[in-house]
Amino acid sequence: MKKIPLFDLNFGEEELAAVKEVLESKWISMGPKTLEFEKIYADLHHSKHAVAVTNCTAGLHLALRVCGVEAGDEVIVPSLTFVATANSVRMMGATPVFADVVSLDDWTICPKDIESKITSKTKAIIPMHFGGYGADMLKICAIAKVHNLIVIEDACHAPLGKRDGQYLGTFGDMASYSFYSNKNMATGEGGMLLTQNEEFDKAARLLRAHGMTATAFDREMGKEFYDVVDWGYNYRIDDIRSAIGVAQAKKLQEDVRKRKVLSDRYRENLSKVESVTVPFQNYPGESSNYVMGVLLESADRKTVRRELNELGIGSSMHYPPVHQFRCYKDFSAELPLTEDIGSREISLPLYYNMEVEDVDYVCENFSKLI
Ligand SMILES: Cc1ncc(COP(=O)(O)O)c(C=O)c1O
Repeated sequence: MKKIPLFDLNFGEEELAAVKEVLESKWISMGPKTLEFEKIYADLHHSKHAVAVTNCTAGLHLALRVCGVEAGDEVIVPSLTFVATANSVRMMGATPVFADVVSLDDWTICPKDIESKITSKTKAIIPMHFGGYGADMLKICAIAKVHNLIVIEDACHAPLGKRDGQYLGTFGDMASYSFYSNKNMATGEGGMLLTQNEEFDKAARLLRAHGMTATAFDREMGKEFYDVVDWGYNYRIDDIRSAIGVAQAKKLQEDVRKRKVLSDRYRENLSKVESVTVPFQNYPGESSNYVMGVLLESADRKTVRRELNELGIGSSMHYPPVHQFRCYKDFSAELPLTEDIGSREISLPLYYNMEVEDVDYVCENFSKLI
């Protein structure tokens, strides 16, 4: 039986060689490889600054802190996202306020709904670029400007994604990425912050490493003394992961190109199937094609997923809406589109090592099942 997982790593000799080099150098904590990783990632996205961190959640937390979000503030977030987007707001003691998505075609946070949720306590907005398709950042940043709000992009799904001719992750005040193993780029755990603001870059570097004015590597390079000038965290990445990150970053353009070929094939095949809808039909940009999410019209998702699994085909759900989790019951909201998508969405396999024939195989079985 053919086995097609939901995702697969795009790892090879390059990653093995990169890790070997770091292990042999004996500098395995945050150091020169991390600087190289930050440079290559910033350059790829035409970003002025990049700060590598332990993971995206740490990055979002750091960004909220750097941008001055405080306990009691309100932060507008989507609910059709991974829970970390909202959790990072709770980590600051601030209140997540959930906004609905644009439509059954555009699953990103709705600018109009954002506007309707702004109060005197609102301090920031965190759009999430669903599946690599960007939220309407021009509109969101315009709203933020009028109301003097911070914008932090949850760009986990969107490395190298573009909307309206600009790289996602470079519209807002800061953006956070994840290199968790199922992402376009994987380092196991890992994350990156982008910012165009020099002060934010400096503050993120400081708070990433305990608020210390010099890291161990800076001292190795000759700085004699360090002071602690703010209450920081340990959100450092290590050079083993950064080395994998450099190798993965070098493959990113090719990863996104291949995923587009596969996504286009999914779209072509599924356009002939009546009982399924594929979103983002007229997306005004270039997606990272991280997730191949579709909407089931009537088929029972649980049964479809079980039967796909029996055929060796992986699947997932993006996402159970955050405001419906027990832990978020005190932050309830009316989000009809999010709830509808959350109850009918199914994500099909999509990864670099897949071939067009695999997409055909998945679509053939999937359409028979539904
Ligand atoms: C949209 C979104 N936000 C945040 C995260 C959290 O990333 P990490 O696991 O690197 O903290 C993820 C990871 O799956 C995600 O998909």
